Amino acid sequence: MLTTRIFGATSIAVVLGAVTYFSGVSIAKAADIDAKKIFMTHCKTCHGEDGHPTDLGTGLGAREFANAEWQAKTTDEQIIKQINNGTPEKMMPFKEKLTQDEIKALVSVIRSFGKK
Ligand code: HEC
Repeated sequence: MLTTRIFGATSIAVVLGAVTYFSGVSIAKAADIDAKKIFMTHCKTCHGEDGHPTDLGTGLGAREFANAEWQAKTTDEQIIKQINNGTPEKMMPFKEKLTQDEIKALVSVIRSFGKK
C-alpha cells in the first residue's frame, strides 16, 4: 500500500525532527541543514574554504580556524555568539539571515577545520 508507506516515512521524519529539536544545545546535525553549504555561501569569502582566511578576511582581522590553541580556548557558545552578532566593521551579524539551528550547525564546520 503506497499510502501506508508514505504515511510511515512521514511519521519517522517527524519523530526524528522532534528528537533533533529536543536535543537542544547539542549541535544540530539535522539532515535538512547542510552546514558546509551554508559556510560556503556566507562565510567562505572571508574565512576561506578550509577555515584559512582569505586576503579579504586577513585584512579585516579574521583568524586561522585550524589554530589548535584557538580551537581549545574557544567555546561553542562563543562561536555561536560571534556568528549571531558579528563584530562591527569586521564581520556582519547573521542572526537575521540564518536560523539558530543553522548557526549551531556551523559550529561543527568550524570545529572540523581544527581536526587536520
Ligand atoms: C566580511 C567578512 C566575513 C564574513 C563574511 C564572515 N566573517 Fe567571521 N569573522 C570575520 C572577521 C574579520 C573576524 C574577526 C572579528 C574580530 O576580531 O572581532 C571574524 C570572526 C569570526 C569568528 C570568531 C573568531 C574569534 O576570533 O574567536 C567566528 C567563529 C566566525 N567569524 C565565523 C563566521 C561564520 C560561521 C561566518 C558565516 C556565517 C562568518 N564568520 C562570516 C570576517 C567575516
